[in-house]
Amino acid sequence: MLEKLLRKKTKGSDLSISDRIKNVKSRTIPSHVAIIMDGNGRWAKQRSLPRIAGHHEGMKTVRKITRIANDIGIKVLTLYAFSTENWKRPKMEIDFLMKLPGEFLSTYLPELIEQNVKVETIGNFDALPPHTKEAILKAVEATSMNTGLVLNFAMNYGSRLEIVETVKEIVQLTANNQLSIDDINESLIDAHLMTSHLPEPDLLIRTSGEVRLSNFMLWQLAYSEFSFTDVLWPDFDESCMLNAIEEFQKRNRRFGSVEGDNEL
Ligand code: FPP
Repeated sequence: MLEKLLRKKTKGSDLSISDRIKNVKSRTIPSHVAIIMDGNGRWAKQRSLPRIAGHHEGMKTVRKITRIANDIGIKVLTLYAFSTENWKRPKMEIDFLMKLPGEFLSTYLPELIEQNVKVETIGNFDALPPHTKEAILKAVEATSMNTGLVLNFAMNYGSRLEIVETVKEIVQLTANNQLSIDDINESLIDAHLMTSHLPEPDLLIRTSGEVRLSNFMLWQLAYSEFSFTDVLWPDFDESCMLNAIEEFQKRNRRFGSVEGDNEL
């Protein structure tokens, strides 16, 4: 089945998935890819299905994209699975979204372990229901020694809340005289964010045609490349992921500097 997929020629390319992976691997690979997985509801609506059917299908895409990200050699894949604003959704949808990590991890944990994937999470963990926390913690513990792709779920994550918490921590340290105001710089702020142990995302992907950040990694995305696609998350497949990486590899990242020889 995997063999067949790898041999499959992809839309818009004469090459098979495995040849495209080979080509992508011969160039600079983004170390950290962050994804806003959007469009589950619309995918379901197009099929006259309940929204939760879209989320369930979206979970299968998580499996596909984790596998190819690992194959390509991406180091960190951060997935925006539930935002601090998503609590405003109907209770039934929230309950379903809170059960998804449990279903995903109970179904796919053995293959994540086999693929050497390390599960991590960012976000306000305390506010999650006990069954969600237990499922995630079990996977985090079971994969803690793995050295392959870090699969980082942003669960109950909001960037503004993260920044507020960071400011509070730093202010507290200065109030206790453990830090002086002159110690406050970008690296110190980085070190107090939930992503302190991760590289900044090189590439942000958002599916479903929406072109906004929705309170996702506002600090960390300062110099990331953005890739937006109209494809809805449940339809986002290996070929779509390769499109985004190939597009990234054509970009010229300057980080605010100028290109090449900068003599006037
Ligand atoms: C946004 O689409 C999607 C979400 C809020 C949830 C994303 C969750 C998944 C893809 C499944 C996660 C799986 C695991 C394993 C945690 P939307 O509902 O806003 O779509 P719409 O804009 O079309 O309504």
